[in-house]
Amino acid sequence: MQKIAIYPGSFDPITNGHLDIIRRSRLLLDKIIIAVNDNPSKTFLFTVKERTEMIKGAIPASPGIEVESFRGLLVRYAEKKGARFIIRGLRALSDFEYEFQMDLMNRKLSPGIETIFLMTSQKYSYLSSSIIKEIVQLKGCSEGLIPEIVREKLLEKFKNNF
Ligand code: PNS
Repeated sequence: MQKIAIYPGSFDPITNGHLDIIRRSRLLLDKIIIAVNDNPSKTFLFTVKERTEMIKGAIPASPGIEVESFRGLLVRYAEKKGARFIIRGLRALSDFEYEFQMDLMNRKLSPGIETIFLMTSQKYSYLSSSIIKEIVQLKGCSEGLIPEIVREKLLEKFKNNF
């Protein structure tokens, strides 16, 4: 039986930290579906289409990796896709409480779905989409932290904001 996992997130925008989690989880599982959350009540810098396209642009087409967007409950989406696993990356202790709460709630909603947590690689442990947005907007150096396509899209977004 194929081991299918959902890697959900806002990805506003995707960073090299996310890409590292995708690469490492693909070594463990047969298929990873990167699922971009389309939540109309949340404010994002990029539209769901832009976030999805950036991920597709950042990841070479590869068997076992798909990129989609989803609305509504994550576990319902996972069930629809036949996924038994959810992947989440953990950076610091500060991530733990929220992730623990989500894991418990997701398991209550759908007991058959397990969340697998991967610890971030040390070199990305201080990285977040929010920090990246600020660094690029303030013309800081983002080398090695985000894919080139993301850097270009961020610069385009902020071109009138400097
Ligand atoms: O990258 P993020 O913002 O930390 O991702 C959070 C995400 C999208 C995984 C989470 O908000 C989510 O699963 N949203 C879908 C709605 C849902 O299922 N909520 C209940 C989770 S307990």
